[in-house]
Order: sequence, then C-alpha cells, then structure tokens
Amino acid sequence: MKLKKIIAPSLLSADFSDLKNEILSLDSKVEYLHLDVMDGSFVPNITFGPLIIKGIVKAANSVGSFKFDSHLMINNPDNYIESFVKAGSDIITVHSEALTHIDRTISLIKSFDKKAGLALNPATPCSVLKYIIQKLDLVLVMTVNPGFGGQSFIDYTLQKIERIKKMALEYNPNLIIEVDGGVKKENIKSIYDAGADLFVAGSSVFGKTDRAKAIRDLEKEVL
Ligand code: DX5
Ligand code: ZN
Repeated sequence: MKLKKIIAPSLLSADFSDLKNEILSLDSKVEYLHLDVMDGSFVPNITFGPLIIKGIVKAANSVGSFKFDSHLMINNPDNYIESFVKAGSDIITVHSEALTHIDRTISLIKSFDKKAGLALNPATPCSVLKYIIQKLDLVLVMTVNPGFGGQSFIDYTLQKIERIKKMALEYNPNLIIEVDGGVKKENIKSIYDAGADLFVAGSSVFGKTDRAKAIRDLEKEVL
C-alpha cells in the first residue's frame, strides 16, 4: 500500500456535534481518517460502532475524499467485521490481545477485500507477528494503553517499532507500520526514524485551533 499522506487524524478528539466542519477543518490534508471503536470491555471506555461510522463516512464524503481506518478496540470482533465493512471501513484493525484465532479474523477481514491490520498493545511482544506478518496489510503499534486520547507516549515502544520494521523488511516490505497514541511535534521524528509509516494524531491535531497547520507542523518534522 502506498501512502499519499502520513498523518491519520483520530476523530476521537473531534467535536462530534460539528463533525462535518471538524473534517473540513483538516483542509483535505489527510488520506486516512482514524476511527476509534471502543466497547467498554476490551478497553475501559465506550465510543461508537458501525451505525455512527456510517454517518461519519457520509459526512466526510460530502466534504472530501478519505479512506476510513477503523481501529476496533473490542472483544469478539469477528461478530462485527461485516458491519464495519458495510459502514464503509477501508482498513479494519483488530487487537491481537482480543483474539484467540488471529489468522481466522485476519482472513475474515480480507475475505471482504478490505485491508487487514493487527494492533499490539504496548507490552505485547512482537513475536505474535511471526507467522501472520505476511498476511497483514498493516500493524498498529499502540504507543499508549488504548482507551483514551491525550495520553503520553510510552518510550519503550520505539524499540518495538524498530523491531517490527526489521521484520517487515524481511517478510513483508509492503506492510504499513502505524503508530497510535501520544504522537506530537516533539516526538514524531524519533518515531519516524524507528520505522513508522502512518501516524495517528488525535489531540495534536484536533486540540489545536488551526488543524491544517497542526498537520503541516507534524509533517514538517519528518518530510
Ligand atoms: C487511544 C486511541 C487513539 C487516540 C489517540 O486508545 O486508539 O487513536 O485517539 O489520541 P492522541 O493522539 O491524543 O494520543
Ligand atoms: Zn486508535
């Protein structure tokens, strides 16, 4: 997968009462919109599901052209994959820690002709990727404990990104390494140098008044 843009704003930090204008404020500087789905069970917070994503997709498509990156922080994701496909997701990422049968779930996502991602919590070892890496389109490295926006980046995850980059070069050079949590101007360069390709940014974009500038400022550090 070739990326046109490297910042994926997370709508978790957007104002949902004014979603269209929030998306418009990004000034079409993004390829992917990151959608954080939380179930109050896998993570201690609840956000939204397929029905709301359908609305988000409709609102976003009326103001620009985006791909929808659904990050499922939920237990039993297999039961909902089809609904997230129908809602308009282009990438569906599931958590390794929520799965007993990782291969089955990844195959299920791919059976709908969607990009399949596997997310790893900060303390989950990279070895979980060993046999599945060739089947994945994306690995999502959690750089905070999932559940909330606005947390601080956990530094030891940099080593993990480096390790996954090495694995990717050997076994799946097209793999996208996405990082999620605590990405900001001050640390994006070191995350990029470690090997990340796609950067989720919630508070460091929607927390700023000028979102297009916030995205440019992040990109400027690495491009
Ligand atoms: C956290 C979510 C993130 C979150 C990132 O569980 O997966 O996508 O929105 O927010 P920031 O960029 O504020 O850390
Ligand atoms: Zn996320």
